[in-house]
Amino acid sequence: MRTFKFFSLLMVLAICLSGFAPAAAVAAPAAASGDIKIALLAPLSGPVPTFGVSTRDGALLAIKEWNAKGGVLGKKITAIVEDSQCTPDPAVNAANKVINQDKVHYIMGEVCSKASIPVSEIANAAKVIQITSTSTNPSVTVGADGKVKPYIFRACFTDPFQGTIGASFAINNLKAKTAFIMLDQSNDYVKGLAEFFEKAFTEKGGKIVGKESYTSKDTDFSAILAKVAEAKPDIVYLPDYYNIVNLAYKQAKEKGITAPFMGGDGWDSSDLDKAAADGGYYTNHYAPEDPRPEVQNFLKAYAAEYKDDKGVGKVPDALAVLAYDATNMLLQAIEKAGADDVEKVRTELETMEFKVVSGSFKLDANHDPKKPLAVLKVKDGKIVFDSLVNP
Ligand code: PHE
Repeated sequence: MRTFKFFSLLMVLAICLSGFAPAAAVAAPAAASGDIKIALLAPLSGPVPTFGVSTRDGALLAIKEWNAKGGVLGKKITAIVEDSQCTPDPAVNAANKVINQDKVHYIMGEVCSKASIPVSEIANAAKVIQITSTSTNPSVTVGADGKVKPYIFRACFTDPFQGTIGASFAINNLKAKTAFIMLDQSNDYVKGLAEFFEKAFTEKGGKIVGKESYTSKDTDFSAILAKVAEAKPDIVYLPDYYNIVNLAYKQAKEKGITAPFMGGDGWDSSDLDKAAADGGYYTNHYAPEDPRPEVQNFLKAYAAEYKDDKGVGKVPDALAVLAYDATNMLLQAIEKAGADDVEKVRTELETMEFKVVSGSFKLDANHDPKKPLAVLKVKDGKIVFDSLVNP
C-alpha cells in the first residue's frame, strides 16, 4: 500500500480530445422544452436521508453554476429531483417516471448500490445515460454477463479497491491479525464490500475469526456482539451505512468490546454518531483537509450556498462532492459533444479526461474512475484525516 500526502498529488490538466461519435442508430427522445433536463434520483427519505440531501445539494450547486455561466450549449439546465429512498422499488418507479414521462436523456444517481443496480438495467435498456455519483458496487456498470453497460457510468471508485485498501490498512497500520465481519446479505453494497475485504484480508495473511449476518430491519445486535466478544478479534469490519453503524457500534461499546470497528464510505454522514463510533476508521472518497485548490474552492462555494440552522456555512460530505463532480462530468461531456445527443455524450464520457474536485481521471473500460481514497478516523467527536491512498 502506498500512502501519499495530499500536497504530493499531481494535478493533470484536462486534455481536450476531439472527435465525434458515429450517428446514433436509435434517435434519443427529444426534450419537451428547450432546456437540458437532468433527473436526480436521491434518497431524501428512508433509512439514510443525509445521503439524499447531500447528493441533491451537490448536484444543484453544479447546475446553478453552469446556468450562471449561460447553461450548456446555450440552453438552461433544469433538474427533476425524485426521492428514490435507497430502495429498489421507489428507485425503479422514479427511473420509469423520468424516462417515460419527463423524457430525460440523463439520470444522476442513485446513491445506494442496491437501488442503482436495478435503475441501471432500465436506463441502459432505454438508452438513457445514468451516472451514479456514489454507488461503488461493480454490478452497477457491469452486467451479469461481464459486459459493461454502455449507457451507465460512475464518478466514484469501486468496492474491490475500497475493500482491499481497508484490509491493507487494518493489517499494516492497525497491526490487525484477526477480523470479525458483520454484514447485511440483502444489501449489495454491504455484501460486496464485505467479500472484497475478506478476500484481501485473508490474502494478506489475516484471519477471519467470525462472520455474522443481520438484516436491515434489525435494531438489536446483541446476539452477534456476544460472538464478537467471544472471538476477541483485533478489528470488526462493518461495511454498512451510518444508521446501522450508530446502533451496532454503540451496543458493542456497551458490551465492553474495545476492538476498533472499520467500514467504508457508507459511514460518511453528518448523522454518524461520533461518540458511538469513536475509535473507528473508514475509507472514503475525500477529506475536507485536502489542500488542493479544487477542494478548497469547492468548500467555499458550498459553504456560501448552504447554511446550517445557525447560519454557518456547511461543510460538504463525500456525497455532496461526488454529486457535484458527477454533474460536472455530465455537463462537460455534453458541452464537448456539442449536442444534446445521448450517443455523442456517451462517447465523450468514455473517452474524455475529467478534472473535477475529487481528482483527475478518464473512465476505464468498465466506466469506472481510478481515484485516491482517504482513510478517516473518528476521534473525540471529530472526523480526522489519517492518510490518502492512491490506486
Ligand atoms: N457506496 C455506497 C453504495 O454503493 C453509497 C455511499 C457512498 C454512501 C458514499 C455514503 C457515501 O451503496
